Amino acid sequence: MPTKTYQFPENFLWGGATAANQIEGGFHEGNKGLNIADVLPGGKGRLNILKEPGFNFEVNTEKYTYPNHEAIDFYHRYKEDIALFAEMGFKVFRMSIAWTRIFPNGDETVPNEEGLAFYDRVLDELHKHNIEPVVTISHYEMPVNLVKNYGGWRSREVVTFFERYAKTILERYQNKVKYWMTFNEINSGLIMPIMGLGFSIQKEEDKYTPTFQAFHHQFVASSLAVKACHEIIPDAQIGCMILYAPVYPYDANPENVMHALEEERLFNYYCADVQVRGEYPAFMTRYFKEHNIELDIKEGDLELMKEHTVDYIGFSYYMSRTEKMQKAGEEQADGNIMSGVRNPFLKASDWGWEIDPTGLRIALNQLYDRYRVPLFVVENGLGAKDVVEEDGSIHDDYRIEYLRDHIVAMGEAIEDGVDLMGYTAWGCIDLVSASTGEMSKRYGFIYVDKEDGGSGTLERSKKKSFFWYQNVINTNGKEL
Ligand code: BG6
Repeated sequence: MPTKTYQFPENFLWGGATAANQIEGGFHEGNKGLNIADVLPGGKGRLNILKEPGFNFEVNTEKYTYPNHEAIDFYHRYKEDIALFAEMGFKVFRMSIAWTRIFPNGDETVPNEEGLAFYDRVLDELHKHNIEPVVTISHYEMPVNLVKNYGGWRSREVVTFFERYAKTILERYQNKVKYWMTFNEINSGLIMPIMGLGFSIQKEEDKYTPTFQAFHHQFVASSLAVKACHEIIPDAQIGCMILYAPVYPYDANPENVMHALEEERLFNYYCADVQVRGEYPAFMTRYFKEHNIELDIKEGDLELMKEHTVDYIGFSYYMSRTEKMQKAGEEQADGNIMSGVRNPFLKASDWGWEIDPTGLRIALNQLYDRYRVPLFVVENGLGAKDVVEEDGSIHDDYRIEYLRDHIVAMGEAIEDGVDLMGYTAWGCIDLVSASTGEMSKRYGFIYVDKEDGGSGTLERSKKKSFFWYQNVINTNGKEL
């Protein structure tokens, strides 16, 4: 239990976070097209597919299972789920819109009305319960047609398709959504181009130019979405979304300190600098040169990026990362797609993700010192195995402890002077894991009866953490 109480801002945005492909299911209902998550198999092997070259984006049901096809069936059960979020007192709910529900192939000129109508119903249901939606425009959900026939974000044409999609939803939901984000964890494309950039590299050594060209297209697309949002919904705020993990040097050896700094700049700051400051950071000039990267930057791109920067930084925080120049012989730490060496001061989750609440305070201070724009923790949580007792109860004290410690860290950061808008706990309802496709890696306050193999009734039940978080929100973080 914390020894002091924390003062969160009066309108602090407490809530939970999800992504369409990890909750909705109904993967071919309502004229939805196939997206990247639909072709990713379930199981721990998924992580290798995501990181290794040569994935073909085909469904092979003889060999694999596809957990995102049904997910947790939010597509049909959203009313029940939103009522549970409301019972916890959510002020906001972070969700994403599936691009393929609106433009099934991505390159159509006319949107799919059935898809638009579905999100109208979801957004109306949220408002009925006084929950403000926070919408990610693209959360690892690119149409497979754009991947196969255009090469994903490598193609400049995709910028036009994305702009059309973004404008369509900004216009349609202009009275219903006031918080937006462009690309989920945009920097994750550095490690997992499949989800983030919409293509699989063919060979490791050929990755540099396609990767950074794809990023450039996303930056242009993001600026176009920011511009459109400000024009269409002047009272809305639109943010970027980055995966942020502070990088610690393994020790005081200056070589390791410099190495950690380089890792931190590329992974944590390269994308955020462009989206928040509106320009490529100075350190990328050397990086581009050393890796023979020549970007095709069209006339007007840099001005557009400079003019249309984001209003806030949304970020996910699960862990810190510890880096050492020479890793040979060191024990590696698992992690949210990137891994460093084991930090001897930290414990790890069942999935090897190191648990570091102070790292969140550090992250908040680093980001605020650097950018001076409001911050929003839009993902944080503990993926763990839960046990259902005979009476149906679930005593997830480990999750409560994890969340409490991270909320304390936010309270401290607010005292440090950080402008923090809100907190949406990841996977507020159990959902399909992005990196492994597992159901057993549970994050939720709400349990969903579904196993890794796909069996289960899909019934929802409240974990102990449900009541704990309800009280946290009710007391605006005073009782943790
Ligand atoms: C973030 C993603 O990387 O981490 C989410 O934005 C994801 O989509 C979350 O689910 C947790 O990762 P995982 O692999 O445990 O689902």
